[in-house]
Amino acid sequence: MNNHKKMKGIILAGGNATRLYPNTSQISKQMLPIYNVPMIFYPLNILIKAGIKDILVIVSPAHSGRFTNLLEPMFRDVGVRILSTVQEVPGGIAEAFILGEGFIGNDNATLILGDNIFEDAETIANAIKNFKSGGHIFVKEVSDPERFGVATVNKSGIVTAIAEKPEKPESNLAVTGAYIYDNKVVETANNIKPSNRGELEITDINNVYLQKGELKMSKINGEWLDAGTPDAYLDACILAKEKKLYEKFDSLILKAVEIGREKFKTQAKKMLK
Ligand code: G1P
Repeated sequence: MNNHKKMKGIILAGGNATRLYPNTSQISKQMLPIYNVPMIFYPLNILIKAGIKDILVIVSPAHSGRFTNLLEPMFRDVGVRILSTVQEVPGGIAEAFILGEGFIGNDNATLILGDNIFEDAETIANAIKNFKSGGHIFVKEVSDPERFGVATVNKSGIVTAIAEKPEKPESNLAVTGAYIYDNKVVETANNIKPSNRGELEITDINNVYLQKGELKMSKINGEWLDAGTPDAYLDACILAKEKKLYEKFDSLILKAVEIGREKFKTQAKKMLK
């Protein structure tokens, strides 16, 4: 029997980004430029590199229109369907699978946080292409693991536990903001309870998969940044410029930008007339 399900993509681009205020008062964090393209193009690149054609962007109420205005027509021109939905209040990363339930339908889902910049898009895109079932997370060695979800691994490299922002981390392996799950993630997200900080935690979903022995883990190469603070944001811009990350984007994205640029030029000429 062929039980190969389609893969849908979700980008979580909600939140208020108060740490970047006033830069984020008129524009959402995920639309701020990382060197030459908006931040959200980075997670989009991974999903598109993996061949995903259906992507849901979850946005905060203040910025919903801007995402649809830019992304929907631009990517439609290259055959990628982008939809958006609003997250009224930041209710946690795992809420993405509740807000996205109708969009996911019977398919599998990859979630990427809209402010995560991965130098190594390939490892994640390849894991998405080869995904069969269960869950798959991506970890990176960091010097400040207490800021993140932290994975404990045994000698054979198997994940044995994940803790959300532990005071005393058991390893230096941060769980990055890219997650691949089978369709059971929707039911799992509906069953978990909010944490002490009042959010539906992605770590709780990962632990459900872990307890069933269905969670895979890959280490990613290169740099990984969560561009949520002014310093990390600047680092992301420098990384993008120095490593020429844009030039390594999927050809569909480069094409979408070129078509978009031509349309933009035509519009600008019309305005002058
Ligand atoms: C979230 C997750 C955490 C993960 C991090 C990656 O943290 O809860 O497990 O390591 O994203 O960016 P938050 O951004 O909510 O502090």
